Amino acid sequence: MDSSNSRLFITYSIVVIIVMILMGTVIIPLLSGNERIIAILTLVGGLIIFFVLIYNIFEKYIKPVRSAARVAEQLVKGNYKARTYVSHYGEAGKLSNTVNALARSLQEMTIQERMQGNQLRTVIDNMESGLMLIDERGYVHLVNRKFEAMFGKNANQYIGYLYYDVLDQENIHKAVQEAFLYEEKIKNSFTISLEVEKRYVEIVGAPIFNDTKNLKGAVLVFHDITELKRSEQTRKDFVANVSHELKTPMTSIRGFAETLLDGAMEEEELREQFLTIILNESQRLQTLVHDLLELSKLEHDELKLNRKLINISSLLDDILPIVSHQAQQKNITFNTTVKNTIEIVADPERLKQVFINLINNAINYTPNNGNISLSIETIDMFVRIIVSDNGIGISEESRDRIFERFYRVDKARSRNTGGTGLGLAIVKHIVEAHQGSIKVESKIDKGTTFCILLPKQ
Ligand SMILES: Nc1ncnc2c1ncn2[C@@H]1O[C@H](COP(=O)(O)OP(=O)(O)O)[C@@H](O)[C@H]1O
Ligand SMILES: [Mg+2]
Repeated sequence: MDSSNSRLFITYSIVVIIVMILMGTVIIPLLSGNERIIAILTLVGGLIIFFVLIYNIFEKYIKPVRSAARVAEQLVKGNYKARTYVSHYGEAGKLSNTVNALARSLQEMTIQERMQGNQLRTVIDNMESGLMLIDERGYVHLVNRKFEAMFGKNANQYIGYLYYDVLDQENIHKAVQEAFLYEEKIKNSFTISLEVEKRYVEIVGAPIFNDTKNLKGAVLVFHDITELKRSEQTRKDFVANVSHELKTPMTSIRGFAETLLDGAMEEEELREQFLTIILNESQRLQTLVHDLLELSKLEHDELKLNRKLINISSLLDDILPIVSHQAQQKNITFNTTVKNTIEIVADPERLKQVFINLINNAINYTPNNGNISLSIETIDMFVRIIVSDNGIGISEESRDRIFERFYRVDKARSRNTGGTGLGLAIVKHIVEAHQGSIKVESKIDKGTTFCILLPKQ
């Protein structure tokens, strides 16, 4: 029994004792002898019975009811962990059981609600797009993590403020105003400059309505479309480059054909000279188209490599006669070192292309009487291919760009050797499709070394 219960119990007991004493003082003087003793005994017995009764009523009814009331108070205050002590008797027992059941289900409900809240928060925070929620008066109510990352401040610098006070992009203001004004979804894109970077952002604003179709605010979603724009730009550049590259030989073919028809055809010497040019230019055109097709095939069938277990030595048997012949023409010494039998799971045709492109470059960009070497060895789970030359080398600023399509350090020189500027782009593509890596080291006028690592499997 806690203190307030004991106090109540003591009060009741004192009242009963006083009543008994009063009854005693009234009745006893009126009696005599044995009657007195009987009366006293009856009073004392009555007192004891009263005590037992009061105690029972307390334990079985008053205490559980008071405890249930206290728990109900706690529940009202939001403390759903509160439980009443369980009485086993009658109505009071039912009451305490019901109160406890109520408390339990309230507690479960809040746990579920909190879990759902957390889930929603996690989803919102891990979205790939920025999100902002504003009410009908323009106050920001919610921003997610991506939004913070995009605009660079943290949530409490936005939440509770008017959107136009915390965001200075006119396009965002326009999007919100349009969503409010036209009460329909709007789409808009703009650029924002963050730190050093310029990012392209697409914004979608949608008004929010309540059950009675009244405007309650707007939700704005920000997609970062920088990568998309970038690849769009690359594609545009590529198309421009292709057209340009195709135009040069085509103009030349047409020009010489016209000159021939205009009369140059009559002169034996000119005829031969011009036809040779036309032949060379058409060959250039052919290689260019071939390389372009190769590149686009690689891009589309990246996953469709025709992998099989191949022996590097037998692969080289197909290539070496051709490239050695080219090297001989420039009197270039060509050394090959293949350590033991090396086997690799790869696409043989593609791998041949890698060797041919690298060795051709080495020959093309090395002056007469130079040296070229090809060495292949296994290192742990990898095959390492090194192609090096002692040719003209590549400057540091060009080194990062040589793998780009159409990038050539010296356009004229590359063109003279039949280069299209696509060779290394193709090589890199193939290597990466095989989960390998390619690196280049070079010193101007000292030479260049390409190093490829390919996983054996
Ligand atoms: N071994 C090398 N030595 C010097 N420069 C090289 C070498 N390999 C490639 N390059 C440079 O990289 C450019 C790109 O090579 P590549 O993609 O094969 O195109 P290209 O058709 O011009 O050979 C070349 O134009 C050349 O300037
Ligand atoms: Mg090349």
